[in-house]
Amino acid sequence: MTVGAHGGRIVSRIRDDIPDGLPEIAVSSTVMSDAENIADGIFSPLEGFLGEADLGAVAAGGRLADGTAWTIPIVLDVGPEEGRAAKDAGEVLLCSEDGGRAVMRVEEAYSYDRPGLARSVYGTDDQNHPGVARTVSMKETLLGGKIELARRPADDPLRRRRMTPEQTRRAFADAGWKRTVAFQTRNPPHVAHEMLQKAALATLDGVFVNPLVGRKKPGDFADEIIVRCYEAMIGSYYPPDRCVLGTLHTEMRYAGPKEAIHHAIMRQNYGCSHIIIGRDHAGVGKYYDPFAAHEIFGSYEDLEIEPVFFPAVFYCKSCLAFSTAKGCPHGEEARLNVSGTALREMFQAGRTPSEYTMRPEVVRIIQGSGSPFVE
Ligand code: ADX
Repeated sequence: MTVGAHGGRIVSRIRDDIPDGLPEIAVSSTVMSDAENIADGIFSPLEGFLGEADLGAVAAGGRLADGTAWTIPIVLDVGPEEGRAAKDAGEVLLCSEDGGRAVMRVEEAYSYDRPGLARSVYGTDDQNHPGVARTVSMKETLLGGKIELARRPADDPLRRRRMTPEQTRRAFADAGWKRTVAFQTRNPPHVAHEMLQKAALATLDGVFVNPLVGRKKPGDFADEIIVRCYEAMIGSYYPPDRCVLGTLHTEMRYAGPKEAIHHAIMRQNYGCSHIIIGRDHAGVGKYYDPFAAHEIFGSYEDLEIEPVFFPAVFYCKSCLAFSTAKGCPHGEEARLNVSGTALREMFQAGRTPSEYTMRPEVVRIIQGSGSPFVE
């Protein structure tokens, strides 16, 4: 069973030349990584940055103007002057400091309501929410239009595991997997993460471990640490023919339920038939109910990828096993609750998590690195 691309076909928007003479627009490496994701089909069916009608529909209803499920604004913000000039020019070259280049046909330059957009995506206008803070500080004008990637960002060690949908689909087919479960993460693996993946693997063929690499909030674990921890854990605890490790290079938005849908869409494009959605998926602070990311899938039954929902998983010292509230009669005092936040706090305080919380190979990498966190 091959899982189709979201919206029908894997988008491919790559060209092999950089045209001369186009006006240049400087963009961040975050915007360029999204241009690259569009070009590689990770964001299928998007072919460019959202125009006004699509953005309005995404904000109002979590769908593109034609009804296709889409919950996260993929937009390019510029200053008003730059926006007008880009619209007049018709075609521009997006340039990032890391060497990435993309040609954009500018179909629209439009203004938008930043606080309104933040509220609709994040469900709050509290500027302590990192996604809200970022949205309200974006520039005043958005450019909408199709892009073509003309040059990828320069090679960087972190790109060593970046994969395109073409590559992941081939890897799953070569492994003989028909049903692949995706695992989204922004943290080094703790043992509950591993248990979720292995529980899903009991009935599915393979797991695509797909850490998100890109802009994150201060205090989160740094990308290189996350990737090294996963390499170590998979090397020691996974059958090699049941796991593919590849990174997804995009910004973490902390949009809870809406981001869970976005995470699922990208993994469908990679060729996964299932995605694990656990407790407080893509959440931050106390902005979302821990299971809001489960409920939202009820409004997206048209997605081909199927969510595999998990309740909170913990280690029970009386059961001597990882369990959930449904399977364990013991009280809180017997339970080791495992969360990325608790682990970050533990490392910050110089404490070492027990082996029921984190594999020693992973702990060693984190403790051996001078500064494991995003500053
Ligand atoms: S996330 O922002 O990428 O969601 P994280 O890397 O911590 O954060 O989580 C990855 C996945 O594991 C998410 O689906 C999350 O819901 C799930 N998860 C993490 N810890 C637990 C836990 N203790 N119990 C159940 N699910 C969990």
